[in-house]
Amino acid sequence: MGSVEDGIVECFRKGGGVPYEAFTRFHEMMVEDSGQSVLSSLESHILPLVPGLSERFSTGIRVLDVGCGRGRVLNRLASLYRSSQFVGMNLSQDAIVHAREEAARAGLENVQFVEADLSEFDRTAEPGSFDFVTAFDAIQDQAMSSGVFIGR
Ligand SMILES: C[S@@+](CC[C@H](N)C(=O)[O-])C[C@H]1O[C@@H](n2cnc3c(N)ncnc32)[C@H](O)[C@@H]1O
Repeated sequence: MGSVEDGIVECFRKGGGVPYEAFTRFHEMMVEDSGQSVLSSLESHILPLVPGLSERFSTGIRVLDVGCGRGRVLNRLASLYRSSQFVGMNLSQDAIVHAREEAARAGLENVQFVEADLSEFDRTAEPGSFDFVTAFDAIQDQAMSSGVFIGR
């Protein structure tokens, strides 16, 4: 955060945003963060929030994770529920490359990672493509006006 302080201060004066690329360790830091916050409680607390979800995952559904980052959460889900198909989408090529590498290391064949800007996804998505959509720590990154993400 310290390295982008000047840019952030400037945004408070003039508006606009600081792009993800300016945060040099952003995705590396995020995966550590979600590893502690989301991954650690995924099975014990988060999945049980939706009644019947775990059973549906076990039966086999199509799941999309928007803003999947380096994909650690989705890879965990894909590992737990081999009958379901998981797709992670994210803006950053760096994040997607890491997500794919982790999936390959784990030998996961039911997860796919796509580099995509989802700013227009409400208009461009194919209706009915997914049965369940997740967003972990990604909604707050979106700008409120004109559907444009922060920094874009
Ligand atoms: C705070 S991070 C959370 C990442 C991940 N879900 C996790 O929990 O580790 C937010 C993610 O949303 C992604 N993102 C932001 N705007 C996006 C857009 N327009 N399209 C796709 N992904 C976007 C960022 O690249 C970033 O990886």
